[in-house]
Amino acid sequence: MNIRVFRTPSDAGIYAASMVERVITSSERPVIGLATGETVLPVYDALVNLVRCGLDVSHVTTLNLDEYVGLSPNHPQSYHWFMREHLFSRIGTPMQATHLPNGVAPDLEAECERYNDLIRNHPIDIQLLGIGVNGHIGFNEPSHTLITGTHVVNLTPETINMNARFFSRKDDVPRQAITMGIQSILQAKQIMLLAFGEHKADIIYEALKDGIRTDVPASMLQLHKDVTVILDSHSAARLG
Ligand code: F6R
Repeated sequence: MNIRVFRTPSDAGIYAASMVERVITSSERPVIGLATGETVLPVYDALVNLVRCGLDVSHVTTLNLDEYVGLSPNHPQSYHWFMREHLFSRIGTPMQATHLPNGVAPDLEAECERYNDLIRNHPIDIQLLGIGVNGHIGFNEPSHTLITGTHVVNLTPETINMNARFFSRKDDVPRQAITMGIQSILQAKQIMLLAFGEHKADIIYEALKDGIRTDVPASMLQLHKDVTVILDSHSAARLG
């Protein structure tokens, strides 16, 4: 694993965006795996700047990791909304295609299959990941078993508590999500894992330096041959 530590999340975001830029400019049909959450905001800011400076993204396809079950794309806390707000609506010309799981699909199992087919037909060149304080990636929560493909997951109380900051009431946080599975994530050619802040220091240590454990899903990334971990000094504090 290539571990890079930056002074600020903003510096880290610029570095991560430049890795994405390299993929976009070196491929005819680049496929970028995207994430939501606070961690990826500096990456999207930097990417928007690159586009404003001339980076062409009209040939890019994106596939997001996850979406809450029960939130329509027009719900302000949905990940569809997040992506429009922080990236898609800010880049001027539209990308080739942008995909997220549909959290209000009438048949969720069929929706998971549809999303698996999309991933199969659009192999991901580079996947952007944040990490939950409990070690989740996407919404692959700590468990005895990890699921390979796209699936519906029950969110843990820890994740519901952490994500409550984005909702007016904790009771409004959806209890389920659709997420890409661990195998889909590991099939990306390149992976970037980002984490900032003191509150991520313990889980970054466990994910990178302990063994591989299903109760720390991010530790599965140790099996991948091309992972870049992008940290600030706070999240890197326990790495020594
Ligand atoms: C979101 C996602 C999650 C987040 C993680 C960290 O699409 O896949 O795994 O990356 O919960 O969230 P933040 O960045 O808000 O700390």
